Amino acid sequence: MMSRILGIETSCDETAAAVVADGLAILSNVVASQIELHRQYGGVFPEIASRQHVLSIVPVIRQAMAEASVDWSDLTAVAVTHGPGLAGALLVGVNAAKGLALGRNLPLIGINHLEGHVYANWLITEGSSAPQIAFPVVCLIVSGGHTELILMSDHGQYQRLGGTIDDAAGEAFDKVARILGLGYPGGPVIQATAENGKPDAFPLPRAWLGESYDFSFSGLKTAVLRIVEKYEDKALPPQTPDKRSRRLTSQEPPILRGALSMPNIAASFQEAVVDVLTEKTCRAAKEFGAKQIILSGGVAANAVLRQEVRNRAPVPVVCPPVYLCSDNAAMIAAAAHRHWMRGETSGWDLDVVPNLKLTHNTTPKQETQENAG
Ligand code: KG4
Ligand code: ZN
Repeated sequence: MMSRILGIETSCDETAAAVVADGLAILSNVVASQIELHRQYGGVFPEIASRQHVLSIVPVIRQAMAEASVDWSDLTAVAVTHGPGLAGALLVGVNAAKGLALGRNLPLIGINHLEGHVYANWLITEGSSAPQIAFPVVCLIVSGGHTELILMSDHGQYQRLGGTIDDAAGEAFDKVARILGLGYPGGPVIQATAENGKPDAFPLPRAWLGESYDFSFSGLKTAVLRIVEKYEDKALPPQTPDKRSRRLTSQEPPILRGALSMPNIAASFQEAVVDVLTEKTCRAAKEFGAKQIILSGGVAANAVLRQEVRNRAPVPVVCPPVYLCSDNAAMIAAAAHRHWMRGETSGWDLDVVPNLKLTHNTTPKQETQENAG
């Protein structure tokens, strides 16, 4: 079945719209990032995110339609992220999608953001043909808000093996970058800083949590903070009487001596995160007889993680190109294609679900749009 789906994504700090054909071919993929707006807060400021989505959503959708060179009558459905994410941010996308679907008489499909990240792996990208993915697969979804290990037995069939019990992997990168005074977002800057460091320079703790597939990164973050407190150059005068808050808010890197240089700490931290993510993902692939491993989410852009999983995996590893790892709407449209093939659409009462989980079937089964409308 052929489809042309408009995807809309506003769950966090990216306003995004895309048109995807048959869940595979990206006809357009527009992402308006709010990173500059949130940088001063060292993280995403929810109300500012919602308001910026209100300003950007129509121009972004218009641009996605224009770049795809499609008319509204060419579309099969409108798909939108309805969770997990920030409630106010999600509401902007969901209501825009409802208005368009209603006005253009198109089916509405609510999509789980995590399922979207997984389906980024099905998109055809420049210079590569349709990815061949064989089930079952073990999916590691690692982003600023999520760290989930999922066994996917078929399209739309998900079993959660584990997830973080405290900070998400990307959140750990962001918080450690803040402690080190490296800026926001933390992932790319820690990866770049770590290139000149030794990953074994400092033995940082790994939370194995026994045999479980759960993760914990808050102890690691605290361990980095303790090193900074211990080795920071005390000769530097504190900018405020509260030294701790100065360290946590200052944009200037504190000066660290000798072997405990910034690159060495960044590399040791990155290695500790990558080690645990890789080990548990590969062990799950063995235990559940996965044919492949797929990586997704913003942290899957990390070059060391991609390489380590490839080195240690018992099966082939698939990951999207870097620009499809972070939030985008092409992945939402790709996930929606499968729902549409199964005849799953959402009712007009589609609501936002900030803590939506990824379970076997993520499109809410509601009344048909005719009945609900
Ligand atoms: O998927 P995403 O764009 O948004 C969420 O759904 O959260 O992920 C953003 C997260 C941020 O925490 C960012 O620091 C992290 O992904 N990230 C990275 C890298 N690039 C982005 N983490 C590690 N290494 C990277 N190269
Ligand atoms: Zn995301």
